[in-house]
Amino acid sequence: MPQIIDGKEISAQIKEELKEKVMAMKKEGISVCLAVIQVGDDPASSVYVGNKKKACAYIGIASLSYELPEETTQEELLALIDKLNKQKDVDGILVQLPVPKHIDEDAVIRAIAPEKDVDGFHPQSVGALCIGQRGFVSCTPAGIIQLLKRSGIEIAGKECVVIGRSNIVGKPMALLLLRENGTVTVAHSRTKDLKEVTKRADILVAAVGKPKMITREYIKEGAVVIDVGIHRNENNKLCGDVDYDDVAPVCSAITPVPGGVGPMTIAMLMNNCVESAALKR
Ligand code: GUN
Repeated sequence: MPQIIDGKEISAQIKEELKEKVMAMKKEGISVCLAVIQVGDDPASSVYVGNKKKACAYIGIASLSYELPEETTQEELLALIDKLNKQKDVDGILVQLPVPKHIDEDAVIRAIAPEKDVDGFHPQSVGALCIGQRGFVSCTPAGIIQLLKRSGIEIAGKECVVIGRSNIVGKPMALLLLRENGTVTVAHSRTKDLKEVTKRADILVAAVGKPKMITREYIKEGAVVIDVGIHRNENNKLCGDVDYDDVAPVCSAITPVPGGVGPMTIAMLMNNCVESAALKR
């Protein structure tokens, strides 16, 4: 049976490390503060935002919470971001996405000062990652690199295939694997002979958005399989983009859903907040 990559355990480890770091920083008079903005009351967003605030409290990061009504105008939201950009005690600003349709998401992302862009979504953060300069990295792909490293999986020289090209996961994932000296292919919905491409992968990252689409026909024997998807199946049970029961017997390591990639995203967000506060001084 494959090695099960335990994201719950690894994220807990990272949170413990951060908790100690924050305690040490407090002794030197450095505090950490994240501003969390939610516009509207989408139930899924409320759960995510609640989890982020809980993680802050656990680690010792202060959080400022802004729950704005659905009718908030773009101008009002941008004015709040501008105020938080200037506020010296705020280390990170997070606007939970999606924002309501009448607000331009790109304008919101661009409005956040890059030094407080703990989501790593600002064009400057993405550009910095692309050319190997310092900047915040999108949390889910950064978490996947931690999962691989902390599970003793070597990336350098490996054939890495990422399925998906989103700005939040696929593209930064490819750049991070490249930074770790992987040989990287990005596949997507228009890729011809997807199975041919994914069967080359020593490390396969599936961010397709289709429940259980990746079966063993897509996998090279002994590959490492990272599942970014999260869906509810017909029985209301959580599942990923990978058909776990079908794929697990043929791979060398695999992330479960839930308990794989998911918990890493918040851990890396917390890491970015702590780094932002540390860098400021
Ligand atoms: N919505 C879904 N995932 C994310 C995320 O990582 N950050 C933000 N800001 N919004 C999201």
